[in-house]
Amino acid sequence: MIAIYPGSFDPITLGHLDIIERSSRLFEHIIVAVLRNPNKSPLFTVQQRLEQIRQSTQHLPNVEVDAFDGLTVNYAKMRQAEVLLRGLRAISDFEVELQMAHTNKTLSTQIETVFLATSNEYSFLSSSVVKEIARFGGSVNHLVPPHVALDIYQCYTNNHTVSNPTTKMEAIPPQQSLPTGTPSQKMHKQ
Ligand code: PNS
Repeated sequence: MIAIYPGSFDPITLGHLDIIERSSRLFEHIIVAVLRNPNKSPLFTVQQRLEQIRQSTQHLPNVEVDAFDGLTVNYAKMRQAEVLLRGLRAISDFEVELQMAHTNKTLSTQIETVFLATSNEYSFLSSSVVKEIARFGGSVNHLVPPHVALDIYQCYTNNHTVSNPTTKMEAIPPQQSLPTGTPSQKMHKQ
């Protein structure tokens, strides 16, 4: 059975990765699908997010990474996926996710939404939390894969005003000096 795991992934976190790893043991094939959303101003371009997710999931042979436009159920049908996968962290997620699942059911009765409870250690984690911490100069090494942390630091160093510049450099370990030619050098300004 093919499952789609749709989302913004701006950027992918260890919480997303936990859902991907666990679902890759439940389904034959997982498609991590990044929405091209013209209504949002993301930190990373779709191409950068695809690269970050591909690098994070290269140890999982049944995981594919792709981008899509428009309705998730249409993309799922096009990819012959029967399951739409979403992670659940808390009751607050549940309300939004249930509404989304019901909406998607009105659009296609063939696609089932399956919720996976996020592992306890990631129950607080979101891409927004990661960006908030990085924006204020905190370390995100424990929240995202190492290459994504580097992209984030580089992004805020090069393109964004860090709100507390006195702590910014403390958050970036010296051994993580930024290599040239990484995807974030083509970063969009927010
Ligand atoms: O990571 P996110 O931002 O919580 O993901 C939300 C996403 C992309 C799954 C959702 O916004 C979505 O499916 N958007 C595509 C448009 C769509 O299908 N809308 C109908 C369902 S509400």
